[in-house]
Formats: sequence, structure tokens, C-alpha cells
Amino acid sequence: MKTLKEVELRDKRVLLRADLDVPLDERGGIKDDARLKIAIPTIKYVLEKGAKQIVIMGHIDRPRGQVVDMLRMDRVAVRLIKLLGRHVYKLDDCIGKGIPRGERIILLENLRFHPEEEANDEGFAKQLAAYGDIYVNNAFATCHREQASLHAITKHLPGCIGLQVEEELKHLDIDKMKKPIVALIGGAKLKTKIPLIQAMLTKADKVLIGGAMIFTFYAAQNLEIGKSLCDMNYAMNAKMMLNNEKLVLPKDIVIADYENQEAGIRTVAHNEIPKKSIGLDIGEQSLEEFKQELRKAETIIWNGPMGYYEKPPFDKATNELAKIIAELDCNRIVGGGDTADALHKLDIAHKFNFISTGGGAALELLAGKELAALKALDENEVNFS
Ligand code: 3PG
Ligand code: MG
Repeated sequence: MKTLKEVELRDKRVLLRADLDVPLDERGGIKDDARLKIAIPTIKYVLEKGAKQIVIMGHIDRPRGQVVDMLRMDRVAVRLIKLLGRHVYKLDDCIGKGIPRGERIILLENLRFHPEEEANDEGFAKQLAAYGDIYVNNAFATCHREQASLHAITKHLPGCIGLQVEEELKHLDIDKMKKPIVALIGGAKLKTKIPLIQAMLTKADKVLIGGAMIFTFYAAQNLEIGKSLCDMNYAMNAKMMLNNEKLVLPKDIVIADYENQEAGIRTVAHNEIPKKSIGLDIGEQSLEEFKQELRKAETIIWNGPMGYYEKPPFDKATNELAKIIAELDCNRIVGGGDTADALHKLDIAHKFNFISTGGGAALELLAGKELAALKALDENEVNFS
């Protein structure tokens, strides 16, 4: 697979698949432009190397093949103009539109307005490919999807990865990480984390588990979990992992009354959760144990919050661990939007070595899976001329 720096760009038309999927507020305003900022170095590099034109494409959200006005790329265009300090010409569709002469930076309309994008349609990919001589994939967060602008398109143009995808692959390669590796995995849904936990139980040295998914582990041991979140469909998976000595589960839990979560807030042992309570964070003793394990690490991989971090005081363990990890002298890697969000809120994101821009994609990569779009780029190498 070629990287952007290995490709001759002079006088070429470059078609860039970027991560433009920014979070929006109720009125369609951009809440956070971090993903757009990440696209900038790749766009600038392409222009500096003398490309004739750059056509940028991406999606916002999941309009499911329909035009949804709120999800148009107009605001993204305005923000890109500001970030680049250059004019960006936006088309009002992503296919079948001509580009006015003299325009050097072009932005296509939301790809997911066409159902063919998510269907990985060959004809649609071919129409997109007509905009470029070279294809650059810099959309790491969507690289686990088999979609036309990421997958089918690789058959129609010579392609390479952009600067951000190159960085992600470099930092998320667990086989190159310095040992001992301690994985800290949280979040609510065990279902989405099973492959990651299993991979970490093989490759890491300790796996610390927090977040609401711990209750499925407790329920799998027939412990009372009160009204805490739990998914018994995955109790068997949890049970099988319980025997692994690398796995560390919290020993105390912060609970509240289920009916009124402002009341009854206290810490109990993990096997003493009352029937009418809900577990919402990990306790002080667990926090201490986790800290001790984290201090032994050369590499820390963190994915997912430890508790219901959107609602104080149940953000305590997540915030405390974030602050502790920020001051440790080791390689610290973060994957997943919620964890990154917590670090941004605390204004300590800059203290971490690498924060992945991918959620699902980062999880798959860390779990040792090959990402569909990158596999396609690898296998369908159309020759560069
Ligand atoms: C993301 O937000 O992680 C990417 O944009 C992928 O979005 P998707 O889950 O809607 O495919
Ligand atoms: Mg998305």
C-alpha cells in the first residue's frame, strides 16, 4: 500500500476521501471541527506538491440515501475555507456535476445522499473516480466500511493513504508497542468490545475493565447487579474471559437509587449491589488498583469511559484516571470518541501520545482486524503512471 509521500502529485487531479463527519448541533451548526482540522495537512501537502486540483469528498451522519438539507456540506465548505485560508468551491451533488475552470479546491456534496455509496456500488464508484487521476484515502474513521468511496473506488484509480491514515496505522500497531502493555477498556456495551478485549487478553499484559459492561461479567458469575445495565446475550463470552488471569474487574462500585439517581449515591463492594440500585462508576479501591497496574506499563491503550461520565459525579473515575495517565511517562494511546471527548473536556488531550480519530475503525484495528477499505487499496492496486 502506497503512502501519499511516495506518490508523484505534480499536475495530477487528486480525489481525496476525507473524514468530514463532524458532530452537528440541533440547527446543523458544527459542534466540533477536529476532523476537519485533521484533513488540513493532507490537503495542504497535495497542493504544495503541485497537484492541478484536489476534489474532496466525504459523508456526514447517516442520511440513508436521501437528501437531508441539514446534512449538506455547505457549512463544512465554509469551515474548510477558514482553516485553509483558501477558496473552496462546493458542488451541490457528488456525481454528475461539472467543475468550473480555474477552481483548484472542490468539495463534493454528502456522499451518503446516494444509496449507492453505502451499497459499495461499482457504477457510482466509477463516476466518483472520474474526478481524479489519483485517489487518496485519509478517512480513517470510515476505513472499516465497505463503501463506494472507500472500497469499490480502488478498482478505478491508483490509490494511496493520506497522512492521517499513515499516522493511525503507525500508532495503533500493537505488535510494535513496547511491553508491558496495559489495556484500559470501558464503555457500556460489552457486545462492541468483545473482539478488543479478546485481542488484548492475547497481546497485552493486563486488561483493566470498567464501564457498564462490567455488570455483564458480574451477572455471568450470578452476582446481584440490581438495575445496572447488562446484556445477558453476552454472558457466555464474559464467562469465558473471566478465567484469564490478565483480566482485572473493579472490586467496588459507585451506586445510586435506580428511581432517582441523585439519591443513594455511595460505594459498595461489587458483590453487594442492592436490588433497587444501579451501578454508575467504579469505586475508589478499584481506582487505586487500576492506578497501580497503569504505573507498571510501558504502553497504555485506553478505550472507553469507566462510568456514566456524562453525568457528574459519575465521571470521577474516568477523570481521575485521565489525569493520572496524562502524567505518566510511557506511550499512551487513546481510541474511541467518548474517551477522546473526556480528554478534550479536561483539556489534557495534548498530553497523550496519540488519540485516534476512529471509533469503530480503531477498535477493529486494535483487535487485529484488517480494515476493509485498506485491504481493498492493497489488493486492487491500479498502477500509477
Ligand atoms: C464515524 O463517525 O466513526 C465514521 O464517520 C463512520 O460512520 P458510520 O458508523 O456511520 O459508518
Ligand atoms: Mg459517523
